[in-house]
Amino acid sequence: MVRKLKAAVIGLTVGASYVTDYLKNPHIGEIVLCDTNPEKIAAVQAKTGLTKSYTDYQEMLAAEKPDIVSVCVPNFLHRQIASDAMEAGADVLCEKPLARNAAEGREILEVSRRTGRKLMVNFNRRYIDTSLALKEWIDQGNLGKIYYATTKWQRVRGVPWWYPLDDAKRKVGGGPMIDLGVHMMDLCMWLCGYPEPDWVSGKAFSEIAYREAADHGFNNLDVEDMGVALVTMKNGMLMEVEASWASNSELPSDNIETRLYGSEGGAVIKAGCDKCSLVITGKQGEVTVEEIPAPSRRLTVRDAFVKAVLQDTEVPCKPEQAIVISSIIDAVFKSTETGAPVKV
Ligand SMILES: NC(=O)c1ccc[n+]([C@@H]2O[C@H](COP(=O)([O-])OP(=O)(O)OC[C@H]3O[C@@H](n4cnc5c(N)ncnc54)[C@H](O)[C@@H]3O)[C@@H](O)[C@H]2O)c1
Repeated sequence: MVRKLKAAVIGLTVGASYVTDYLKNPHIGEIVLCDTNPEKIAAVQAKTGLTKSYTDYQEMLAAEKPDIVSVCVPNFLHRQIASDAMEAGADVLCEKPLARNAAEGREILEVSRRTGRKLMVNFNRRYIDTSLALKEWIDQGNLGKIYYATTKWQRVRGVPWWYPLDDAKRKVGGGPMIDLGVHMMDLCMWLCGYPEPDWVSGKAFSEIAYREAADHGFNNLDVEDMGVALVTMKNGMLMEVEASWASNSELPSDNIETRLYGSEGGAVIKAGCDKCSLVITGKQGEVTVEEIPAPSRRLTVRDAFVKAVLQDTEVPCKPEQAIVISSIIDAVFKSTETGAPVKV
C-alpha cells in the first residue's frame, strides 16, 4: 500500500504551481490551501476544485498537521513560517532564496536539525531536462577539471514592480542577486560539484531602475538593479556571476546562460533551448560542438522532494547549499561597501 502525504501550500502566487504538481503526484493524498488573501485561495479553488483552505497558517498547521508544507510566501516570512511548519512536525520545501541572508538561513537550518524535519530549497532550474542531461555528462568526466564558469541572468528592463519594492532590502533582502542570481549560482555550482567559495569580489549597482521607480509608485528603491560577482573557490575554480533587472545590453531579456570551461571540454546551457552543448576543442584548436540529448524526465523539483520524504533519504537541494549561496551574496553586498574582496 503506497503511503499518501497530506500537503499544505502556504502562499498561492508561485504556490499555485505547487498545487498543480501535487495534483499530478500519486503520492499526495490531500492538498490544503493557505493564503492570507481569500481571493488567491478562491482563484486556485476555481481551477482545481480543492475545498480545504485557511487564511491563518498557524491555525492550518494545528488543525491539519500536514506531512509536508510548501513555503511560498515573500522572503522575509520564510524563517518564521518554515520554522513553525517544522516545529509542527512537517517536512518543508521552501521557496528560494531560503532566507534573506546566510545568518537567517542558518537559523532555519538549526530548526530542521533540532526537530529532525527535512528542509529542501526549491532550486527548480536543476530539474530542467537540459540541466539534468548536462549534469550526467559532467559526472561522466566529459569536461575534465572545470576551472572557470560564467553564469548569468540578464534583463534589459525587467524590474519586478509587483515586488514589495517600497521596503525591498528588508522584505526581499536584495535585488536581482537574490531574485535571479540565487538560481544561477545554484545551477552552476551544482553542475560543478558545489565547490567551496573562498573569496568574493563583487558589486551591487543601482544605475537605472531607481530612475523609473517613482513611475511605479516607489520613492525609495533600496536594492541593486544589477549584481556582479567574481568568486574564487577553494579548489582554485573561478565563477563569474551577473544578475540584472535592468541593464543596457543588446541581448534581449531574459538572457539566461551558464558556460563551463574544463580541461577536456566546455559546455554551455541556455534557457529556452531544449538542448545543451558540449564543446570539445582538439589539439590543433579545431572545435566540435555536440548537442547533448535531453530526454524529458517528467521529474519536477516537487516530485524529488516528495520522493525524499517518502523514502526518508537526503533531500537533493540542501539548505546548506542555499546558505553557501547566501554567503556569496552577503559578500557581494559587503564588497560593494568596502570596495575590497571579502573572505567567505
Ligand atoms: N522558484 C522560482 O522560480 C520562483 C518564482 C517566483 C517566486 N519565487 C519565490 O517564491 C516566494 C513568493 O514569491 P511570489 O512571487 O509568489 O510572491 P507574492 O507576494 O506574489 O505571493 C505571496 C503570497 O503569499 C501570501 N502570503 C503573504 N503572507 C502570508 C502569510 N503570513 N500566510 C499565508 N500567506 C501569505 C500573499 O497573500 C501572496 O498571495 C518568494 O520567496 C520568491 O522568491 C520563486
